[in-house]
Amino acid sequence: MSSSPQDLPPQISAFRKWTQRVLVALVIFTITLVFLLMAKEFIWGGRTSHELTTLDPKGTFSQSIQDLVNPVFAIAAVVFVGVIGGVAFIAWKFRDKGDDDDHFPVQLHGKTSFEIGWTLLPALVLAAVGVFTVLTLIDLNKPAPQAIQVEVYGQQWWWGFHYDANADGNFTGDGDVTTATELVIPVGREVELHVTSNDVIHSFWIPALNGKRDAVPGQTHPWKLEAKEAGVYRGQCTEFCGLSHANMRMLVRAVPQDQYDAWLANQQKKAVEPAKGSLAEAGKTVFLGQLCSSCHLINGVNNDKVEGEKGVKAQLVSGVAPDLTHFATRGTFAGSIFNLYGPDPSTEADPSGNAADVSLPGDPGGALTGGDSAPYTFNRPAVEAWLRNPPAMKPAYATKATVVRGVPLLRGMPNLGLSETQIDQLVAYLQTLK
Ligand code: CUA
Repeated sequence: MSSSPQDLPPQISAFRKWTQRVLVALVIFTITLVFLLMAKEFIWGGRTSHELTTLDPKGTFSQSIQDLVNPVFAIAAVVFVGVIGGVAFIAWKFRDKGDDDDHFPVQLHGKTSFEIGWTLLPALVLAAVGVFTVLTLIDLNKPAPQAIQVEVYGQQWWWGFHYDANADGNFTGDGDVTTATELVIPVGREVELHVTSNDVIHSFWIPALNGKRDAVPGQTHPWKLEAKEAGVYRGQCTEFCGLSHANMRMLVRAVPQDQYDAWLANQQKKAVEPAKGSLAEAGKTVFLGQLCSSCHLINGVNNDKVEGEKGVKAQLVSGVAPDLTHFATRGTFAGSIFNLYGPDPSTEADPSGNAADVSLPGDPGGALTGGDSAPYTFNRPAVEAWLRNPPAMKPAYATKATVVRGVPLLRGMPNLGLSETQIDQLVAYLQTLK
């Protein structure tokens, strides 16, 4: 206890008393404000357009998480009101009334019924919450062998997907599909993910569809998704994984079953062969002649390079950079930070990645199913800017000048010093890869 008021000049004593009251009021006010803001986000969060909110579930599994969060939040609200209300009431009722009463109040310390009460009650509340949490966790982690099987791999700084399209239990055999950045799934079907990493620890997270799952090199973690309605659901790597961690995004595109079937059938095909004498054919020559083909794979074009290193089974695997076989069927590129299609040909690269969802193909007859992407236009300015100088578009250790402990570090796409003619040819080629 501080010294009694009698020892201090009355002004200082009064000042100290008021300071204490203001401090207590501030603490209670702050806690209440934080809680009310949480409640506001909790109740109205789903109605705002936050793409990464966890409170607006669009899938079966995110819904089961929400069904757990709702009662837990209600319990927390009751506890909060009880505790804060009790503290405020007691602080007010037993405040220093300035009547110089030296009477020392009766102490409750050691009162057995109270001790048992405030030990037992929180234990019971936490036990109840714990039981439902564990049940939900068990449900979320149940394997789904009948589901669509997809291997998800994180890599600095993009996500790759291997579909077991021929359902033989292997992700990279004949007829399987490799794609990057975007996971296309049919609405209302369970998709079982096998999450892993090719380099450092990442974390896969599509908040509208499920919680997070770490992608750890050398390990495979099971995870599940199921979208209840068609749409584009964005995600973000949530484990710090280096310079462009914040630019390691991904999206799930949930489409009707027939569109998914058409998409999958198209992805299983080899790359489209450009017309003889076209600009795109010149682009294919650039792709093969430049370093592009050392890292990127275009199925039917440079498989030999990959097969030579990893064997036949690896023929659809591009181990270093995103597979480009059906590049133009995606809505985004470079770790899903740039839109590949825009409603307007003058669409500039949007580093924020917040352009309207309509810029993403996926409509009947859209680029997704191999058709024309009208009315959306190929985002030529963004792709050109990317080819001109990738590290400027997306920070990465993509220059030999970046040396770590004496070793030149290359992560991300380097600047290849392409001429404007080569860029034009490459863009023309990439645009044909549907
Ligand atoms: Cu990958 Cu952060």
